[in-house]
Amino acid sequence: MADALISVLLERLVSITYEYVEGELKHVLNVKEDVEKFTRTLRVIRAVLEDAERRQVTDQAVKIWLDELKDISYQMVDVLDEWNTDILKQQVEKREREGDPNALVTKKKVRFSRCFCFGKVSRVILRRDIALKIKYLNDKLTEVYEERKKYQFQSKELGIQQPQQPQRPQTASFVDISEIFGRENEKKDLITNLLSDSSAEGKGLLIIPIVGMGGMGKTTLTQLAYNDDRVKSHFEIRKWVCVSDPFDEIKIAKAISGDYAPSSNELDEVLQCMSRSIQGKRFLLVLDDVWTDDPKKWKQLKVPLFQSGAEGSRILVTTRKLEVANMMRATRNMINLGGLSDEYCLSIFNHMAFSDRDGHESKVFGDISKEIVKKCKGLPLAAKTLGSLMQNKTKMGEWKEVLNSKIWDLETVEQEVFQPLFLSYYDLSPTIKCCLLYCAIFPKDYEIERDDLINLWMAQDYVISKKSEEKGTTGDAVFDNLVARSFFQDFEKNRNTGTITSCKMHDIVHDFVQFLTKNECLIMDHTECTTSESKLLGDKVRHLTLRYFLDGPLAISSNNCQKLRTLATFDSRITTIDSNLILQLKCLRTLNLSGNSIKELPEEIGELKHLRHIDLSFNCILEKLPDTICGLYNLSTLRLVWCSELKKLPENMGNLINLKHLYVLLCGRLASFPKGIGRLTSLQTLDLCHCDGNNNEAFQIGDLRKLNLEGSLAIHLVGDATDKSEVEKAQLWDKKLFHLTVYFERQTNSSSSSVEILNALRPHPDLESLKILYHNGTTWPNWMQSLHNLRFLTLVGGTQCELWPLGKLEYLETLTLRSMDGVRKVGVEFLGLEDQTSFRIRSPQILFPKLKRLWFGLMLNWEEWEGVEEWTKEDSEITIMPCLSQLTITGCPLLKALPDFVFKTPLQTLRILRSERLLERYQEGNGEWAKISATNPNIRIIRDR
Ligand SMILES: *[C@@H]1O[C@H](CO)[C@@H](O)[C@H](O)[C@H]1NC(C)=O
Ligand SMILES: *[C@@H]1O[C@H](CO)[C@@H](O)[C@H](O)[C@H]1NC(C)=O
Ligand SMILES: *[C@@H]1O[C@H](CO)[C@@H](O)[C@H](O)[C@H]1NC(C)=O
Ligand SMILES: *[C@@H]1O[C@H](CO)[C@@H](O)[C@H](O)[C@H]1NC(C)=O
Ligand SMILES: *[C@@H]1O[C@H](CO)[C@@H](O)[C@H](O)[C@H]1NC(C)=O
Repeated sequence: MADALISVLLERLVSITYEYVEGELKHVLNVKEDVEKFTRTLRVIRAVLEDAERRQVTDQAVKIWLDELKDISYQMVDVLDEWNTDILKQQVEKREREGDPNALVTKKKVRFSRCFCFGKVSRVILRRDIALKIKYLNDKLTEVYEERKKYQFQSKELGIQQPQQPQRPQTASFVDISEIFGRENEKKDLITNLLSDSSAEGKGLLIIPIVGMGGMGKTTLTQLAYNDDRVKSHFEIRKWVCVSDPFDEIKIAKAISGDYAPSSNELDEVLQCMSRSIQGKRFLLVLDDVWTDDPKKWKQLKVPLFQSGAEGSRILVTTRKLEVANMMRATRNMINLGGLSDEYCLSIFNHMAFSDRDGHESKVFGDISKEIVKKCKGLPLAAKTLGSLMQNKTKMGEWKEVLNSKIWDLETVEQEVFQPLFLSYYDLSPTIKCCLLYCAIFPKDYEIERDDLINLWMAQDYVISKKSEEKGTTGDAVFDNLVARSFFQDFEKNRNTGTITSCKMHDIVHDFVQFLTKNECLIMDHTECTTSESKLLGDKVRHLTLRYFLDGPLAISSNNCQKLRTLATFDSRITTIDSNLILQLKCLRTLNLSGNSIKELPEEIGELKHLRHIDLSFNCILEKLPDTICGLYNLSTLRLVWCSELKKLPENMGNLINLKHLYVLLCGRLASFPKGIGRLTSLQTLDLCHCDGNNNEAFQIGDLRKLNLEGSLAIHLVGDATDKSEVEKAQLWDKKLFHLTVYFERQTNSSSSSVEILNALRPHPDLESLKILYHNGTTWPNWMQSLHNLRFLTLVGGTQCELWPLGKLEYLETLTLRSMDGVRKVGVEFLGLEDQTSFRIRSPQILFPKLKRLWFGLMLNWEEWEGVEEWTKEDSEITIMPCLSQLTITGCPLLKALPDFVFKTPLQTLRILRSERLLERYQEGNGEWAKISATNPNIRIIRDR
């Protein structure tokens, strides 16, 4: 943790700008010199951190030293943040003084300038304060620096092999068959793959990666296959090489050459020899525990292997990193090893615990064994370790003790189960380590949303942005990295795009990160807190998660809150938060009070100037936010999802110049935004934008112009003043939006028709997904056909009785149509034809060329879906929906039949729900149904009765 924290701090220290401290203080205190000295010292210390972090596990004195160092680092981060915030404040005030042409009422100006005169004096004091703090921290660091000599740490720069480096276990091909449980299917598949005649690619050599987290049994499975009799007789040569880190080509090549290996360390010679030893032979090579994903290293080895081996040769690779399989371009044959069932874990456990004992004991401890095994969460290594731990325990008390202890408190678990995880952990960069450890704030088995998590990392300054456009480590990259290294699992993916939207952590991994952050991250249940909580909340705690706090004010009577950087509640229903508590939380970065019953927040929240992330979502009785929130210049995320009683946002929101993400979805009473939001030039995410045309004082759609929105945007148009010239001012086409939703207020009498408004809303040409709700018009917007990336389209409501000619959209993959009461008939116009005969005069056409999924819902008056008569002819020159695989019709009670062309598509799933007439017509077994099955035998029909 210290390593990660300090690396991030150093990055910040080198990018400081000093112009701000020039002036008043220059002659009194030399901030620049102090910061530079601090940086130099910290650099030297960083060199020994790796050693120190490893030794702290066993050496208490080292741990204390490290804690002191971390403390200083955290304080320095806070000082730098204060400094930055102050610069920001100056910017805001400067802007106010110079006057914002965009709408500053005179009254406000006056107030601000008074503020400014007053501010000048306090500013000098503040700066002096900052300078003094830096000087103090500098002295403290020097002490720590001196003290380090006592411990004789190994410095990284010296290149000495770390004596404490966790042992990478050397694996061998030997396997004790009696210890294998489960994995029957994996074994069968693997052996089939090894023995199959020719590889799928038609090449001689096949690479099979086995990927999974540490302790999952990859090596064991490989050993099983390697020692299988059929495998033994099939291959002329079998070699087992334990690769580990670093990837040493020479060592590996020598291992393959076996007895013929030359003594030379000349790569070329060694490779030649390796080639000769396998020349023309069918070989099986196991590369166990590969870590490198450097294609250069791999290529050197791969080329001679591919050239020399005979047809049918195989390379088995075990690894924890998906990147390795990617690098080898072998993901096609990959075996992904997940957890075992509890039954299998129990077998392993019993085997280890009771194999030398009489059956009586296994009966006595049978039930408790089952409970203990649940802690393993499918990880065979954990079952094995716990099993061996119980081997000579004979008293019930001893068994109960293990059952009731936290898994990491058991020393053997720490040593053995965490061992493989430590290896993965040490392989991460400092930033990614920080990000991983931060996940300790979530309760076990919690479903973590990708975007939330990335925002949280940003709030702690671990990563600098979400997307890959800015330089530096980005949240997306870190997330994908942790996924690829098996730290996350149980993914939910976006149905359309396939990107991972949420994940969980394996329990053992969660235990592991909690173990590593033991003093810094704390999850506290209400019951634990009512007793002696000041003891529980140690002075090192930085991230506090509270659970099960019931109705009533949130008050923690502890003096150790000053250092908190995260405060979050889960499964709680607090009604207020004590203002004295708030005042203590001076260092807080993230405040998550989502899901409580808070009506009002104390004004004191404005004092928490480091706050970057506030989550007040799902507080259904929250009525307003204190104005003081507008002084949190560093605030970057404000989440207010489903605050259904919230009527307005604070008037001065425009001052939050760092605000990047604002979430206000499902705030039913929020009808408009303050004008100032138009000045938030950093704003990237705005999940729903309220544009009230009736209220000139409020945010108008044209005010979107200055925002740097990216990703997705939803616009809610209210009132009759939304005319097209106002809409055009938004210049939406300049914003890199991928998803756009336009929501018309249902009863509106705007001066422009809704199609005129839509025309003015022309989006960026890269738009991928579009949703329009309650549009009232039969002509489609004039930019529709120029959206060459449009893949997802949803149309909801509206009074139009004809559908747009959507078949002309060449790139459309998913089309959803819902609640269009006006529609009685879907004619050929929908496909993009003018009438039944128009296609005759044209050249061959493909209608809906890329459409895969088509969904009609709640079209209550829809009776007829017209087919294309001429289309059935042999020489027809049109093709309709050649990619369609799913069609859903739900809640269309009057629709009589589906057109014939539907059944000529490669349709696989047809869902008919709550649509009586269709259900009757296509009943299984009747004539119509038989006809369909004959045309398209692959079709699967799903109905609701
Ligand atoms: C806080 O403000 C500083 C100064 O502008 C900035 O560098 C930093 O990124 C801000 N933090 C966040 C989370 O936006
Ligand atoms: C059995 O328990 C004793 C202490 O009671 C311990 O020293 C010994 O190492 C244990 N043996 C095994 C195999 O765990
Ligand atoms: C905030 O807490 C709620 C549960 O109370 C959780 O669902 C949400 O993911 C948390 N948000 C963040 C950003 O941590
Ligand atoms: C529509 O316009 C009329 C007259 O301009 C106005 O009286 C009425 O309130 C408006 N209706 C709505 C729903 O805005
Ligand atoms: C839809 O538009 C027509 C004219 O184009 C108008 O008469 C009708 O009132 C509109 N309906 C709604 C609900 O706005």
